[in-house]
Order: sequence, then C-alpha cells, then structure tokens
Amino acid sequence: MYKLVLIVCLFGTSIVHVIEAASCTVSNYADVDAAAKSCDILTITDLVIPAETTLKIDLKDGAKLVFDGHLTHEVAEWTGDLVQITGTNVEIYGTNNHLLDGLGPKHWKGATEPTIMRPKFLRFKLHESTIRDLKLKNCPNNCIMLSSSTNLFVTNINIDNYDGYPGVAGTKYAKNTDGFDIGGAVGLRVENSVVINQDDCVAVNGGSDMVFENLHCNGSHGLSFSLKDGDVKNVQFLNSKVEYSNNAIHIKTHNDGSTGTLKNILYKNIEFNHIDRYAVSIQENYPSGEAKANIPISNLTLDNVKGSMTGSKSMAFQIICASGGCSDFHFNDVEVTGAQTKNQCENVPSGINC
Ligand SMILES: *[C@@H]1O[C@H](CO)[C@@H](O)[C@H](O)[C@H]1NC(C)=O
Ligand SMILES: *[C@@H]1O[C@H](CO)[C@@H](O)[C@H](O)[C@H]1NC(C)=O
Repeated sequence: MYKLVLIVCLFGTSIVHVIEAASCTVSNYADVDAAAKSCDILTITDLVIPAETTLKIDLKDGAKLVFDGHLTHEVAEWTGDLVQITGTNVEIYGTNNHLLDGLGPKHWKGATEPTIMRPKFLRFKLHESTIRDLKLKNCPNNCIMLSSSTNLFVTNINIDNYDGYPGVAGTKYAKNTDGFDIGGAVGLRVENSVVINQDDCVAVNGGSDMVFENLHCNGSHGLSFSLKDGDVKNVQFLNSKVEYSNNAIHIKTHNDGSTGTLKNILYKNIEFNHIDRYAVSIQENYPSGEAKANIPISNLTLDNVKGSMTGSKSMAFQIICASGGCSDFHFNDVEVTGAQTKNQCENVPSGINC
C-alpha cells in the first residue's frame, strides 16, 4: 500500500489544519487508482503494467506526479495505450533515477508486420499543466500523445529510440515511433527536448496556438503536420535541428479526409543535415493520388531554414498543392544543398521558387 503523510498543527486557540500534501509512493499497478484519488504527490517507483492493460492515472487537481524508478510492462501484442494521464493544474516529472522503458526491442518487427499490434506509450490529457524532465526509451509505437489538452508546458523530454534504427536493431527495427503526436491541444509549448526515433519528430494533427522550440530530432520523419479534418492554426517551430531524417519539414493534408484549414504556420531558424527524402515536403495529396483542396493551407512562412541532404532520392522541395489549395506562402532564407533529384511542384503559390 501507499504511505500517507498528514500533519495537523495547532495554532493558539483556533485549530488550523495544515495538511501537508498527502504524499504517496506506489509500485503496484493495483494501488495506483486509489492513490491518484487521494494523493497530492504521487510517486511511481519500479512498476510493471500488466499485459494488455492501460495504466490510467487520473490526478487530483493541483497534484504532482513523480516518476522515480523503472516503469515497464508485460509485453503483449495489442494496440491500446500503456499509460494515460489526466489532470488539471498538475505537474508531472521524473527524478534522476527514473526511466520510462517501452521495451521496444520486444515489440518491433521491422518490415514484416501485416497489422500493427504494438501499444502506444504515454497519452496525456491535461489542462493548465506542466510535463518536465522525462526520459523515455524504446517506445513500442508512438511515444508521447498530447490529446485534447489546454495550456500545457512541456520541457526537457528525452526520447531515445536509438536501439530501433535498422543499423542497430537489424531486421526487427522500429516503425511508427512518433516522438510527439499532438491530437488536439490549444495553448501548447514544447521546448528543450531531444527525440531520437523512426517516425515524425513532432506530428501536429489538431489544435491551435502551439510553439515548439529548441527541439533536436534525429532519425525522424521531421517536423510535421498531418491533417485529416478540422482547423489548425497559429503553430510555430523555432530554433530547432533535424538530423539523419527522411524529411526536415513535412506538411500533409489528407485528400481522403474531411474538410478543414491549416493556417498561420511558421518555421523559423530550422537547421538540418543528412536528410534523404525531402527537405521541404508540402503535399495536399496524402496518402496518394490527386491533390485536393479539402484542407487549404495558407499563410505559411519558412524563415531561415537551411541544411543539407544526402542520398540518391533526396529532393529539396516537394510542393504538391491542389488548384487554389495553397496561398500566402513566404520563404525567406531557405537554402538546401546536396539534393540529387529534381523538385516536384504543382500549383505552387506565387512568389515561391520551386
Ligand atoms: C543520429 O542518427 C545517426 C544515423 O542513424 C546516428 O549515427 C547517430 O549516432 C545518431 N545520433 C544520436 C545522438 O543518437
Ligand atoms: C500569418 O502567420 C504569422 C505567423 O507566422 C502571424 O504572425 C500573422 O499574424 C499571420 N497573418 C495573418 C493575416 O493572420
């Protein structure tokens, strides 16, 4: 069971109850739910999540959640989330002694995988909250998902899926290990973080008013948008680096999706190297076929975006817009070196060299 600390103090004639934050330490899956309901500071130490089970942590308002130890799980083939954390005004962080270990090598299958049967790692639904100082290793599938959150500050996150690179893992390499998936956040700042993975470093799928700053991405598919429906606006990627990646910048709208808009997007001071597919890919024809204007892209600025490419498939710009689908694009100080194939350009807005 978890420990509870309660201090009651007496002052003069009036009785003042000072309840020092009820502090609890939990290492058993079965104890988490009750502890989350009563504890102001909930510390998770070494804990194993049972197979095919989601560890749901519904924090008290204003609580702190501390990871201190090794969080892991019993491996099974399934597609749920390993951890879901909800709360308002909460602070979530790890100590120097923690590791969120996704046991990726026991899940990854490389190319030989007809259907994905791998759990996603951490899903947060938070309001007015902070997530800081977390270390994730070897996510089985997507790493961090921020779903329906508001006013969220995320800093100093280290996602290390180095073991999933084909050159390290062999045929059972990792796939779909997105670093940050933003399913819908209004008011989000993600900063000072490192993502070493095998899919998007960041993928924005919904929401507005977001800043991503000082991210360092390695091995990824880039700083991305992937939009099927809804309106996404006011998103900035600033002062970040993308290395050994398929793409540096990737904006895709789904031609088989519903309707929406993508606007007021800024990429500023983005540096990249060893990009082997597209330095900048903007496509209104995802996943394939004709570009459609169901989700127009407007007011997109790339400012000081520079770097180099490698490999025979490398292309500096792929800009595939539907007729009237893209407008108000501004590229300032955009430089790509080393591209080996010709740009692909359809319905590119005026003023953009493609
Ligand atoms: C980044 O990726 C490259 C290529 O896979 C690898 O050689 C390098 O060690 C990685 N860097 C880090 C910090 O993991
Ligand atoms: C265009 O986007 C920028 C951010 O890149 C924003 O500052 C500006 O207000 C937007 N312009 C309009 C007309 O909304």
